[in-house]
Amino acid sequence: MAKVAIVYHSGFGHTKVLAEAVAKGAASVAGTQVDLVPVEDAAAKAATLDAADAIIFGSPTYMGNVSGPFKTWADTTAKTWFGQGWKDKLAAGFTNSSGPSGDKFNTLVTMWTLAMQHSMIWVSQGLMVGSKEGDLTLNRLSAYGGTMATSENAAPGENNPSKDDQASGAALGRRVAEFAKKLKG
Ligand SMILES: Cc1cc2nc3c(=O)[nH]c(=O)nc-3n(C[C@H](O)[C@H](O)[C@H](O)COP(=O)(O)O)c2cc1C
Repeated sequence: MAKVAIVYHSGFGHTKVLAEAVAKGAASVAGTQVDLVPVEDAAAKAATLDAADAIIFGSPTYMGNVSGPFKTWADTTAKTWFGQGWKDKLAAGFTNSSGPSGDKFNTLVTMWTLAMQHSMIWVSQGLMVGSKEGDLTLNRLSAYGGTMATSENAAPGENNPSKDDQASGAALGRRVAEFAKKLKG
């Protein structure tokens, strides 16, 4: 059984909707165990992260970067970094914010840097811009390093972030789970 953990922060619930879509995508790959870990619980669930074959990072973009709570948690992983405990695990990232750009790219770069410090193996989005999945349009924002979603300044819900962007997140989860399964042999 390949294990995929998703550790994410969401201040107001929009990134949580995206995280759940990523989890659904990962769980759609047979033989995958998915653990959705809010960053607030990540310290208590350190053993779950350590046992994972893949860790997917998720954060809203705040002030052009990961949110404070996500960064605070990321800094606590320095202990693991010291022993290179996550070496050769898969990693990937997703972010959501209100601006079409909103400097989301920088958030993904921060997650990538965290993964590189841990000697992890980064999995890209793997979708061309505007890829179709039925009626849905995936990777609307032309992001190749991870999933980028945009949410309206309204309550989070099944259409906020949009179904298109949730489907991009699900595709990322699926892709990571497929690679985790291959790695597991
Ligand atoms: C402190 C703060 C900073 C923000 N900075 C950005 C930003 O740099 N770019 C952007 O597009 N949106 C920015 N936003 C908007 C959020 O990304 C947006 O509201 C998002 O849906 C929040 O996700 P969450 O509900 O998961 O917390 C910011 C919001 C807050 C509260």
